[in-house]
Amino acid sequence: MAREELMREITKLKHERNAIILGHNYMDYDVQLAADFTGDSYDLALRAMETKAEVIVFAGVRFMAEQAKALNYDRVVLSPDPTAGCTIADSLDVETLRTYKEAYPKAPVILYVNTNIEVKALADYIVTSSTAAKVIKRLREDTVIFGPDVNLAKYVESLTGKRIIKVPPNGRCVVHGSYTTKLIEEARARYPRAKIMVHPEAPLDVLRLADFVGSTNQMIEYARGSGYDEFVVGTEIGMINALRLKVPGKTFHPITTEPYARCPFMAMITLDKVYRSLRDLVHRIEIPKSTADAVKEAFERTRRLIEGGTP
Ligand code: 13P
Ligand code: SF4
Repeated sequence: MAREELMREITKLKHERNAIILGHNYMDYDVQLAADFTGDSYDLALRAMETKAEVIVFAGVRFMAEQAKALNYDRVVLSPDPTAGCTIADSLDVETLRTYKEAYPKAPVILYVNTNIEVKALADYIVTSSTAAKVIKRLREDTVIFGPDVNLAKYVESLTGKRIIKVPPNGRCVVHGSYTTKLIEEARARYPRAKIMVHPEAPLDVLRLADFVGSTNQMIEYARGSGYDEFVVGTEIGMINALRLKVPGKTFHPITTEPYARCPFMAMITLDKVYRSLRDLVHRIEIPKSTADAVKEAFERTRRLIEGGTP
């Protein structure tokens, strides 16, 4: 089906099915255009909780769709391609986390949203790149278990001064984990007027050379509100689509155009798969109710803390 026809069919099906499409900032340009909301992981989780729609099509990787299901258990949550994983999420399993919990019984468990759902059910707090440091700072404990992204853990450690037990010791994003200080130096030389934004899943030595470190939504806010008009974008290359759509009139350069700048899992979510997902009401995310309840409880506990409550 041609692009325009696909777009028309998707709009029609959304009405017929009482559905909404939530899309991550890394999606293809057309998928972002078809989406009702685009945002970072935290924003999309909140949107999923607010919607009145009966069906949620989650245009993002599987852990994001699972999270939406946990927060909206009575809704139909569809993943256009549930085989879209994430190297960070897939680096931690239940058994490994249990071993760490036994070794540090007094340490609260804080898990990054990029975690598969059965593991996430063991979390005390669930954070995103935009909330991790804030949450950990507010906890009474000075030693915490955090995973599965080792780079985000090191960054949060540098911001909070707390002792962070990293579980596993080597969970990394296939995109951001490959960034080097050389990339930043080259970008500075090529675009001397531009501000460099980097996602905290990159290594700490890279983050230290950036002008701004933040989640994908925080990058949008920075680009929109900072008064600068040219930026180097140190995150997954699909982010350029979100910035061009949401911050028109400013200039954005990807930090690299090498193939590794595109997350192979995000790239699996195509407009055609979004259409099929809506048309055939596939692929439904199914998780045990007890798992969903545990995740929702940890998410709500975290939300209360972010909004000013006590641990
Ligand atoms: P955000 O939390 O910024 O949406 O990032 C999610 C992600 O997968 C980063 O690679
Ligand atoms: Fe996971 Fe990295 Fe892809 Fe985000 S960009 S989904 S962290 S592999």
